Amino acid sequence: MLDLTIAQKTVVTKRISEFLLVSGDGEPLPSYSPGAHIDVMTTAGARSYSLVDWPQDSGNSYRIAVQQEENGDGGSRHMHSLDQGAAISATAPKNDFELIDGTKPVALVAGGIGITPLISMATQMTAQGREFAFHYAGRSADVMAYLDPLRTTFGDRFTPHFDDAKTLNLPALMGGLTNHAVYICGPKGMIDAARDAAENAGIAAGDIHVELFSTGKAESGDRGFEIEVASTGQIIPVAADQTIIEALEAAGLDPLYDCARGDCGICQTAVISGTPDHRDVVLSQTERDSGTVMQICVSRAASDRLVLDL
Ligand code: FES
Repeated sequence: MLDLTIAQKTVVTKRISEFLLVSGDGEPLPSYSPGAHIDVMTTAGARSYSLVDWPQDSGNSYRIAVQQEENGDGGSRHMHSLDQGAAISATAPKNDFELIDGTKPVALVAGGIGITPLISMATQMTAQGREFAFHYAGRSADVMAYLDPLRTTFGDRFTPHFDDAKTLNLPALMGGLTNHAVYICGPKGMIDAARDAAENAGIAAGDIHVELFSTGKAESGDRGFEIEVASTGQIIPVAADQTIIEALEAAGLDPLYDCARGDCGICQTAVISGTPDHRDVVLSQTERDSGTVMQICVSRAASDRLVLDL
């Protein structure tokens, strides 16, 4: 874990504040690559925040932007209650959303607070002279972070889209990006729509990269179900407000997982029988329809029991 100090707190929008974090003990901070995040310990548990890197940044600090979620579990409220000088603990940077080297032009497509990792990617590609287009969709200009510095820094490569003026037409956008690698980050609905549009436009699955900006929260109507562990026959109940991972851990198993929000693919598990209720952004529509694989950190069951290859 890293001991960090908030060197500066800046209000970005009514709901978004930026935190500039420096080493709390004077040790150099571990480096990171565009798309990386740190997990910050809050009173509601660990929360992942992407690292924001602008061309002028020096590399001896971390910058994160936190959107306060009114109906969240308190993690973002805790962060917003902290002021300059406060100490926090966080993991070293991890990256589940790497910008892959290549010669293809890149399209960055952000929704809401999902802008943050894409800023770091745009900064790196600017330094490399790599061709990219940067699209940022939000409800209206007043709730979107960093609009002015984005325009100033990335010029005509940057295009904002305001829902209150004209909603971003994802099929039309993706239709013009068929030779691109596409990086999408935002809330689940936006990612699902953007991924569908990209697939329908013929963009290769390997060129579609996503990161989800929310946790796999329970949804109203969620109900309990059972997991059968294929290797042992053990039956494990999963409560309506519990994830499969939580239920497995409560039963003494040690499932592999990382992001816990359905976008890294680490927890992917084969389904032997039963019907998954997919809540991730990892699987393609074809994989979902097959019903043979699922992300057990967020996805649930549409049947009373799932037999998993565990
Ligand atoms: S742990 Fe990342 S998709 Fe499940």
